[in-house]
Amino acid sequence: MALLEIEHLTKEFDGVTALQDVSLEVREEEILGVIGPNGAGKTTLFNCVSGIFPPDRGAIRFRGDPIQGSRPHEIARRGIARTFQIVRPFPALSLTDNVLVAYGHRYYPRLRASTTASRTQASLQACHGLLDRVGMPAGHERAAGTLPLGLKKRLEIARALALNPSLLLLDEPSGGLRHEESQELLELIRRLNQEGITIVLIEHNMPIVMGVCRRLVVLDHGIQIAEGDPAAIQRNPQVIEAYLGKASV
Ligand SMILES: Nc1ncnc2c1ncn2[C@@H]1O[C@H](COP(=O)(O)OP(=O)(O)O)[C@@H](O)[C@H]1O
Ligand SMILES: [Mg+2]
Repeated sequence: MALLEIEHLTKEFDGVTALQDVSLEVREEEILGVIGPNGAGKTTLFNCVSGIFPPDRGAIRFRGDPIQGSRPHEIARRGIARTFQIVRPFPALSLTDNVLVAYGHRYYPRLRASTTASRTQASLQACHGLLDRVGMPAGHERAAGTLPLGLKKRLEIARALALNPSLLLLDEPSGGLRHEESQELLELIRRLNQEGITIVLIEHNMPIVMGVCRRLVVLDHGIQIAEGDPAAIQRNPQVIEAYLGKASV
């Protein structure tokens, strides 16, 4: 059984079909790449899986259990965490507190409770450990808003890891990053995967996606137009026409 199974997923917004009859699976311990032009439905796929929007039709199963229509915190508790295309840390909170909110969320459903009640030595230590795990440099007590984008992306991943996920959904993690920052992020993604976390990666940076993923799914206008290994995807005429011809390969 695949870790995540998506069948005939359809999501519409005011007449726009963001996803149309999409079926795919995510296998245990793989890094699956999801690519496609802007507006293809990639983020909507994550929004449906993570419970932000209920799908209009179709099934989503995690470890065999149906999760479509469940609330985001219920899905997070099952072991699915995500990052957002536009990073959104709490800018006035310290790095530690940003992670603590997510960490405490495992035990406390409400935000206030999660920053105050969960400030124990053990949880603070766990949060520092998570910041170290994503390669955050020292200075965990500075405000998150002061971080450069590359480190905000790492903080975002640390917050996702605080949920102790078995499946991590990364929405364009290298967007806006310089080449070296993207390379470092790639190493982090590989390392997390080697630690046993299954990853779905939405990514526009083709060297990254081709380098890190053994399998790719291509969306275009809400439709899944291809699935396969990077070499097959790169020579697929439909994919070249819809996307790769315009992207920087
Ligand atoms: N919350 C929303 N409300 C209305 N339309 C949306 C919403 N989210 C996405 N869409 C539309 O759905 C389509 C797919 O968007 P999205 O999933 O963000 O694509 P991608 O991430 O591949 O760029 C686009 O036409 C977009 O405008
Ligand atoms: Mg998107």
